[in-house]
Amino acid sequence: MPEERKPEVTLVGGLANRGQVVRIGDTVRRPQRPTSPATHALLLHLDDVGFTGAPRFLGVDEQGREVLSFVPGTAITPPYPAWALTDEALASVAALLRDYHRAVATFDPTPHVWSPSPPPAFAGELVSHNDPNLDNVVFRDGRAVALIDFDLASPGSRVWDVACAARLWAPLRPARYIDDTRRARAVARLRLFADSYGLADRDRVRLVSAVLQNHDWCYDAVGIAAAHGHAAFAEYLAGGAMERAHETRQWYLTNADVLQEALMRHPRRPRRLIGLASGDGDLHT
Ligand SMILES: Nc1ncnc2c1ncn2[C@@H]1O[C@H](COP(=O)(O)OP(=O)(O)O)[C@@H](O)[C@H]1O
Ligand SMILES: [Mg+2]
Repeated sequence: MPEERKPEVTLVGGLANRGQVVRIGDTVRRPQRPTSPATHALLLHLDDVGFTGAPRFLGVDEQGREVLSFVPGTAITPPYPAWALTDEALASVAALLRDYHRAVATFDPTPHVWSPSPPPAFAGELVSHNDPNLDNVVFRDGRAVALIDFDLASPGSRVWDVACAARLWAPLRPARYIDDTRRARAVARLRLFADSYGLADRDRVRLVSAVLQNHDWCYDAVGIAAAHGHAAFAEYLAGGAMERAHETRQWYLTNADVLQEALMRHPRRPRRLIGLASGDGDLHT
């Protein structure tokens, strides 16, 4: 059957394009944005250099939607499957992010108009994904195999993506906001993420600051979109997200030293680190 006559199946996952992302056969159709030409150039580059951890850009359909390859597998959406919350799964996300950064390092973003960049201290190194949330990673056989949804990609940095991913995947937030096997393992999983990625020392020393700024950047973006009438983001905020965000922000400030210590390759207080690696019950939750 020609692709155009196959049924459209709505794909669920994120909030930004809720209800507007569909699968037709082996393709995905998504609304375009003013910055889509930049994103398409990025996806074409990734394909050119042989990076398989992203959808391929296939064109624009008669409705003006971008056409991407459908990546077989499972994106992580609630209720989260247990296999997506394991340390092995976390390490595979870090490895995928590292591979993406290697592939994108040779891409020149300067001819294009991009989505907003991260704060200047975290911009200009390479085009970061900027949204490595759980529902933007496709898994197969328990391992992360592809990043999807490059809408927010822009000239950013490795550490900015690592901060965002660690924040969401560890996850880094008060234990009372984690009700699965990841509870009380935030610090150990932060260290595991940095190690699995192979984070350089110069980025380890600024990762905790990046986490805090990334948290603020993301919530600012959601707040601005909601204020401009984005229904899904407005519902998200109305559901208590802002209160959780304020408490999480305070948690970062209170625990910054503990998080930083855990990231150092040669911690000054190794016995304390060993204690933390088995749980973060002594964190201020
Ligand atoms: N190329 C793709 N391959 C496989 N699944 C996809 C692809 N693009 C999107 N999806 C699925 O659709 C969901 C929503 O798509 P996404 O582009 O992330 O929307 P949003 O911009 O709203 O976050 C994803 O979480 C994933 O489950
Ligand atoms: Mg998404």
